[in-house]
Amino acid sequence: MNKKTEKPSAATEEKKEASKKSTTRPRTKVKITEVPKKRDLSKPLVLYVAAEVNPFSQTGGLGEVASSLPVAVNEIGGAEMAVVTPLYECVAEKYRKDFEFICHINVPVAWRSQYAGLFRYVYRGVTHYFIDNEYYFKREKLYGYFDDAERFAFFTRAVLELMPYMDFKPNILHVNDWHTALVPIYYKLYYMYREEYADIKTIVTIHNIEYQGKYDGNLLEDVFGISGFQYFTLEWGGCVNLLFGSIAYSDMVSTVSETYAEELKTREHACGLQDAINRFSDKLTGIVNGIDTEVYNPATAPALFAHYDAKDPSKKTENKLGLQKMLGLPERADVPMITMVSRLASHKGLDILKSAMPNIIKEDVQFVLLGTGEAEYEGYFADLQNAYPDKARALIMFNKDMSQRLFAAGDIYMMPSRSEPCGLGQMMAMRYGTIPIVRNVGGLNDTVREGEGGNGFIATEYSGESLYAATKRAIDLYADKEKWSALVSRAMNEDFSWSVSARKYIDLYYKLLKK
Ligand code: GLC
Repeated sequence: MNKKTEKPSAATEEKKEASKKSTTRPRTKVKITEVPKKRDLSKPLVLYVAAEVNPFSQTGGLGEVASSLPVAVNEIGGAEMAVVTPLYECVAEKYRKDFEFICHINVPVAWRSQYAGLFRYVYRGVTHYFIDNEYYFKREKLYGYFDDAERFAFFTRAVLELMPYMDFKPNILHVNDWHTALVPIYYKLYYMYREEYADIKTIVTIHNIEYQGKYDGNLLEDVFGISGFQYFTLEWGGCVNLLFGSIAYSDMVSTVSETYAEELKTREHACGLQDAINRFSDKLTGIVNGIDTEVYNPATAPALFAHYDAKDPSKKTENKLGLQKMLGLPERADVPMITMVSRLASHKGLDILKSAMPNIIKEDVQFVLLGTGEAEYEGYFADLQNAYPDKARALIMFNKDMSQRLFAAGDIYMMPSRSEPCGLGQMMAMRYGTIPIVRNVGGLNDTVREGEGGNGFIATEYSGESLYAATKRAIDLYADKEKWSALVSRAMNEDFSWSVSARKYIDLYYKLLKK
């Protein structure tokens, strides 16, 4: 069409008229856009942000909880959870091949602009979103790199940037530990004012306060992309402390047992954050973790030598004999076997175990350890095996099948932690009829009782003597077959499933929505 002869549209005419008429204020036609719908706050829709999720990636208890809490909540109903986590190199092909690619965008990491791909996969009734960036996550390990601050700045920023592309519209962001601590911080600083992000509540769970994400103030602008003016809101102890930041910025804070929630207020357990915890104590709740009773089930776990349950635990012994054979230990059903699955870090009580060990190993026992960690302890347990080839084995590795075998084969489970936010091993052991020896701290205190009607043994002092005394009580009781089997039966009948705790989380989410 000839431009010149084109009839001016009504709008252009109107504009011309308007500009002619008004000399003071131009009268433009305002397009009335649809008022954004309020986010549905009647039911918690929780996006659970975790740096590790079993079975896709796992180094410890966080990965267990991230895989089992959402399954339990979705089964119970009343709230709905989805999970978002990095797409690490270790995610197995058998899952990856069924991932659905959603989109990719570029995400700001301070002055950088980084690729972020989004994948979706439904596993055990829970939608999992995976965030892909090979530069940050195609590495051998999950953590422990020089640029972890930048890797998790990227991940947390990507979670927020990719949220509008997810088919799950959360009204709660639930983050865990320091790796994901930036989510509530970024949310409050940059996102909450944006229409598509309105009305979202935030909660952080502290799984272990030892790891806080402490960084030099120089990283604030250069890596986290946060203005230096915010330094005072994120500073604790003279540096940027991401866990502290998440406590300050989140609407609620939870931790993984009631006792630990109290301990966090003290100097002894809070690793320098006690004053911060006390300052925000009105936001803090403790809920003890559950375990995945489907995965940790002595009646079905594929790695076991024989299956059994609380009603008939007689085949438990076959697991002891099977492990002894596998490890070349004397095959004796009657010897009390002490097993231990642990990260080899001193706060797991390895220093007191080391001082109790000369006495323990003199008893008629077998001791089998599985775990990796600090070189000092890897060496110590290897030496123990060399010194007592008929009594001790040190399996310096992490292997899920072996851990299941140790839970099933043991009579006694060693877990003398100095500090233990929740601890899952003691609950897994009890489910397998293996009686824990623990210290009365954190979640161990909330799950293990000694004495009449008890389910374990407690070392009340943090000392080798106290630990040996508790071990001796266990060994002596083991000799009384009747009493021991009553103890085993009590331990196996404990309900450590998520059913109670997941309901507590659901209640907490409802409270959070009302905040
Ligand atoms: C951390 C804690 C452990 C807890 C787990 C899951 O690994 O050290 O006690 O059970 O997180 O919350």
